Amino acid sequence: MAQYTLVSGSVGLITLHNPPVNALSAAVRQGIVDTVERALSDPKVKSVVICGQNGVFCGGADIKEFGTNMSGPPLVPMIHTIEAANKPVVAAIEGSALGGGLELALGCHYRIAHSKARLGLPEVSLGLLPAAGGTQRLPRLIGVPAALHLITTGRRVTAAEALQLGIVDQVTDHNTVDVAVKFALSVEGRSLDARCISTYPCPCPSDLDALFEGVMQKVRQSARGAIAPVACVQAVRAAATLPYTQGMEQEKELMATLFTSGQARALQYCFFAQRAVDRWSMPGGARWDTSKPRPVHKAAVIGLGTMGRGITVALAEAGLSVVAVETEEKQLMEAKQAISGMLERGAKRHGVAPAPDRISYSQNIQAVADVDLVIEAVFEDMALKKKVFQQLSAVCKAGTFLCTNTSALDIDHLASQIRNPELMVGMHFFAPAHVMKLLEVVYGPRSSPQAVATAMQLGKKMGKVSVAVGNCQGFVGNRMLKPYIEQAFFLLEEGATPELVDRALEEFGFAMGVFRMSDLSGLDVGWKVRKGEAEPGVASGQPARIQQDHRYSPLGDLLAEQGRFGQKTGRGWYQYDKPGSRVAMSDPWLHSFLEEYRAQHGLVARRIDHQEVLERCLYALINEGFRILEDGIAAGPEDIDVIYVFGYGWPRHRGGPMFYAGMVGLAKVLEKLEHYHQAHPDVPHLQPCSLLRRLVTSGSPPVNRWREVIKKLHSQL
Ligand code: NAI
Repeated sequence: MAQYTLVSGSVGLITLHNPPVNALSAAVRQGIVDTVERALSDPKVKSVVICGQNGVFCGGADIKEFGTNMSGPPLVPMIHTIEAANKPVVAAIEGSALGGGLELALGCHYRIAHSKARLGLPEVSLGLLPAAGGTQRLPRLIGVPAALHLITTGRRVTAAEALQLGIVDQVTDHNTVDVAVKFALSVEGRSLDARCISTYPCPCPSDLDALFEGVMQKVRQSARGAIAPVACVQAVRAAATLPYTQGMEQEKELMATLFTSGQARALQYCFFAQRAVDRWSMPGGARWDTSKPRPVHKAAVIGLGTMGRGITVALAEAGLSVVAVETEEKQLMEAKQAISGMLERGAKRHGVAPAPDRISYSQNIQAVADVDLVIEAVFEDMALKKKVFQQLSAVCKAGTFLCTNTSALDIDHLASQIRNPELMVGMHFFAPAHVMKLLEVVYGPRSSPQAVATAMQLGKKMGKVSVAVGNCQGFVGNRMLKPYIEQAFFLLEEGATPELVDRALEEFGFAMGVFRMSDLSGLDVGWKVRKGEAEPGVASGQPARIQQDHRYSPLGDLLAEQGRFGQKTGRGWYQYDKPGSRVAMSDPWLHSFLEEYRAQHGLVARRIDHQEVLERCLYALINEGFRILEDGIAAGPEDIDVIYVFGYGWPRHRGGPMFYAGMVGLAKVLEKLEHYHQAHPDVPHLQPCSLLRRLVTSGSPPVNRWREVIKKLHSQL
């Protein structure tokens, strides 16, 4: 809703009220319409100020209303009424003016922002465009190139940048509403002819066609199949080439297409899924709201290799004191240099002072005696890690949380090495750890809810999207990756090439296909893990998976045995100019190698199309996702989807693998898996999981209702 008061004798002050961000719900829109009408018809009122309660102007549309039958007054005519008013209307922007909030401000005649305010049109990140005149007013106000950038990326700008761009008229450090009221008094009675943005001509550069072509190309490339950024460009083009009313028509039509697209639904699902993972739960019933995290002020990192360095940087950037321990002197020296470089670059990016003084280095594990939490990141070697945890258990003060960054070893096995196993959790970061958003917090059977809560809270403080997952081989992300990669290998055996498989996956929207990704992360990593699998006790108490009657492709091992580790050696599934180069080129050697391999094994190459690549790779991965849900390793489908979107390059506009399965239709996924399993009975990963069958027999409920079916399934076991 909106409150109305008369201030300073002649200013009608309208205050939006809808905590926490004054979203434009039906009630708020109705409130604005009513209060504006009141102010405009009151002869005492000579000007109007619109502001928001609790230091926030307006966070935009109420996303909860999307997909429902929207009631209440629509935004477009409401904003038109404000712009057409015969009394000056001033927007007093504190906190944020985002999406519909900024569009409302653009309908006002003047905009005054607090210096700490942020402004932007982030609709594109929800698969939409600013459809309350944003695509038509912003280019008219600040010019086509700047508007295109803001609208297609959804980037938020500071008040200072908004002033420079011309979005706001004034920035203040004082009480914004007071300043806006004074300002409103000063412009009472002035002509508003030059203050209605919709009447402005759109300032366009002369080479308009070239500009739009260039931007469209760039947008298509980076959007990887997302349609909203493309529609944003089309809408801004309409602003640049058509009269305002026609441009508004185009904006409306484009929005209607986006609104009903699966992509907008997927992106909105992601928005809510990201919030849902904060409400984690553990199989024992412990959950986020019953477990109090302990504050962590000082942390330690053990092992300063690739991961330890990134983790140290992320901890320091989060404002913690860090003790960084590395036994090898040469590694320690290199790590110090690398870490200070990363901190400097990070500080420059964020416009703050670097924080190297928060880090102390040592070669001695005794240095961690007084820390609140330790993250171990030494080599992936069970014997070494066991030793490190025994030492930590002896050295650390009572109550210190002991965490491991292992990607494959059994958390519980490590927990058994310490005095208080309830203090141990996995904190599985992704490389590079100071950049990648995802953190899997792995709870073992003995981890205490408080340890999980503390790691989740610390992850948040480090700017990560933290997802609590159970303990099993590969946890959630890597466990699902295994059948996906396995299918890609089988497809090569059956006649595909790395180029074909990668193209299919990249056209689907993955940042990188499976083979380019494997070349980037190094073939030696998976090779070592696979070799490790055969060793007893290493893999989460599970026996070696390589069994006689199960199909296994040694292609990755064969390449690794030849020293083809990928980018780092200049050869892998592709070839590179030189070791370390990132430009993957087709390698004729690899193609002959595949032909020889097929001949040796009596395999006849057949034509494989993109459809089969997608179905086999993605449905195998999704099937494992259902197994993970069935096993209670992830709390819900949202957790899996967030992991894939933030850690594995799954295209956000496809919502994550489990959401995608729902979009495709669970019955279809089941049918295809049955079909492929019949064709490949020696591939257990293609055998449809019973939860998937159960969901199909329950009428394929939408993804947000799966938890109920899973709960029922668990209660019957
Ligand atoms: P790395 O080989 O780059 O670094 C390990 C570092 O630990 C080396 O500098 C080594 O000198 C040091 N170290 C060995 N023993 C030590 C001890 N007793 N005390 C202190 N330092 C010791 O390894 P990386 O890649 O950083 O991996 C570390 C852990 O993170 C492994 O468990 C790995 O599985 C896991 N991980 C790795 C990812 C990756 O992409 N590299 C991703 C996620 C997890």
